Amino acid sequence: MDGPTRAATRLDRAWSTLEQHRDRVAPLHLRDLFAGDPDRFQRFTLRHEDLLFDYAKQRVTTETMALLHELARAADLAGWIDRMFSGEHINPTEDRAAFHVALRSRSTAPMRVDGRDVMPDVRAVLERMRAFADRVRAGEWAGATGRPVRAVVNIGIGGSDLGPVMADQALIHWRHPGIDIRYVSNIEGADLTGALRDLDPATTLFIVASKTFTTQETMTNATSARAWLVGTLGEAAVSRHFVAVSTNLQAVAAFGIEAENAFGFWDWVGGRYSLWSAIGLPVMIGIGPEAFDRLLDGAHAIDRHFRDAPLDANLPVAMALIGIWNTNFLGARTHAVLPYDQGLRRFPAYLQQLEMESNGKSVDRDGRPVRHATSPVVFGEPGTNGQHAFVQLFHQGTDPVPTDFLAPVEPNHDLTDHHDILLANMVAQAQALAIGEDEPEARAAMIAAGIDRATADRLAPHRTFPGNRPSSTFLFRRLDPFTLGRLVALYEHKVFVQGVIWGVNPFDQWGVELGKTLARKVLPELSLDALPAEGQDASTAGLIAYIKATRAASDPPAALARLGSPQT
Ligand code: F6P
Repeated sequence: MDGPTRAATRLDRAWSTLEQHRDRVAPLHLRDLFAGDPDRFQRFTLRHEDLLFDYAKQRVTTETMALLHELARAADLAGWIDRMFSGEHINPTEDRAAFHVALRSRSTAPMRVDGRDVMPDVRAVLERMRAFADRVRAGEWAGATGRPVRAVVNIGIGGSDLGPVMADQALIHWRHPGIDIRYVSNIEGADLTGALRDLDPATTLFIVASKTFTTQETMTNATSARAWLVGTLGEAAVSRHFVAVSTNLQAVAAFGIEAENAFGFWDWVGGRYSLWSAIGLPVMIGIGPEAFDRLLDGAHAIDRHFRDAPLDANLPVAMALIGIWNTNFLGARTHAVLPYDQGLRRFPAYLQQLEMESNGKSVDRDGRPVRHATSPVVFGEPGTNGQHAFVQLFHQGTDPVPTDFLAPVEPNHDLTDHHDILLANMVAQAQALAIGEDEPEARAAMIAAGIDRATADRLAPHRTFPGNRPSSTFLFRRLDPFTLGRLVALYEHKVFVQGVIWGVNPFDQWGVELGKTLARKVLPELSLDALPAEGQDASTAGLIAYIKATRAASDPPAALARLGSPQT
């Protein structure tokens, strides 16, 4: 048997051993697992300094974890981790490294891609970012009229938006009080007009953030923002009010942004891993270079842990394997992330891109159909808001939703009584999901509360909680830049581990392309003077025709003029 065949056989064996194990343990309820093991909390928690990861409420046993570790070994996880940290081209469809770990490396060791140490370039860009952020924060970066910048508008989308927005909101307590930072991502014009409504062009700085500098939404928003600025301050003002972050410095220059106002990064930085690069510039302006360094420190600390910790003590590995267990063996198709911290309210949205754009794939690295389910649908809202919305389904719906709860033990505000209520709710939700309340218990509780027996009997099925619904809980001392860096890196590596085990390439995103191509074809067909759409399916043609007819009806003279009607 050759090497690859032997590896495939080992992987198949690991999957089927886990399937047999699942058949044995699936009937066990989390109640039984807790009753049978008083040390379950100690056994199924991991720590990184003050950060605790409790997965005791997952439907796993020690044997489950051992078999999952064997699955990771069979997928050559250690080899893949090594390849990632060695700058190998682990993104085969784009023939690139995925080397975001270099962006936050705090060591003096070289980090090589294609034989070249990238660290001098990484440090040089960070240094320029620091100098620029310091000038803006100190009021030394003057606009065209000589007045200092007071508002920064980041224009970007996807990875060029979600990471910075998420981090900015999470670290709001570190934010410079005199600088207003806003984010525009959507092509829907209300996003840009809303952001600019009360801004003064003379004190506004735009950051155009786009890895490719070709993204339709970003370039359209940037062009409109430029027109807004030039309309008041004139063309010459652009160089004082626009900076860019991109890998495509030629396109940046073509847009009219000078080289000294451009911050570069590299093709080995994936969009959804770019927060650590110059894409983090608005965050650095907001929280300052020192706090940004702490963010990088946190991510680097997890990089080292991920690379060096043994499988059974490795947090991202545990997170990934538990996700695989829930998805591939217990049949979950969703995954909820519920941060009990208002600052982390965009964390689920950030993770949606990280997880679903990375692992939402149906073919493996070699282009063959995958044999197992890949990324679940990820969603979430901050607690306790979610409790008053979708959490009903978590407790009593037909499909369990594996959930991650996250909370700081200490808040970044003084309302400690609020925080106690918050934490009590989070802990109780995880308990209710796991332990539940069976029908006799539900009936007894109602009778104890004075409800008559007939009513209690009638309501008992509705007031029963099956429990056995898995969740993990992350607790950390405080949400600060270091911990945010750790949290993001934990999830990044989790996604990587899952990609390795599912055999997919988590670093490309070809699935976003078809819609972009089709939109380019549809766009001219929406024009009133365009001929009826050809080659479109009936539904698409019907929608295009409806848009045109509605426009023509709501503005007949203009429509007729554009149609060249003799009546005009
Ligand atoms: O459309 C998806 C995507 O390519 C993401 O992967 C990326 O983060 C986003 O668009 C923005 O791309 P860019 O930074 O090149 O504008």
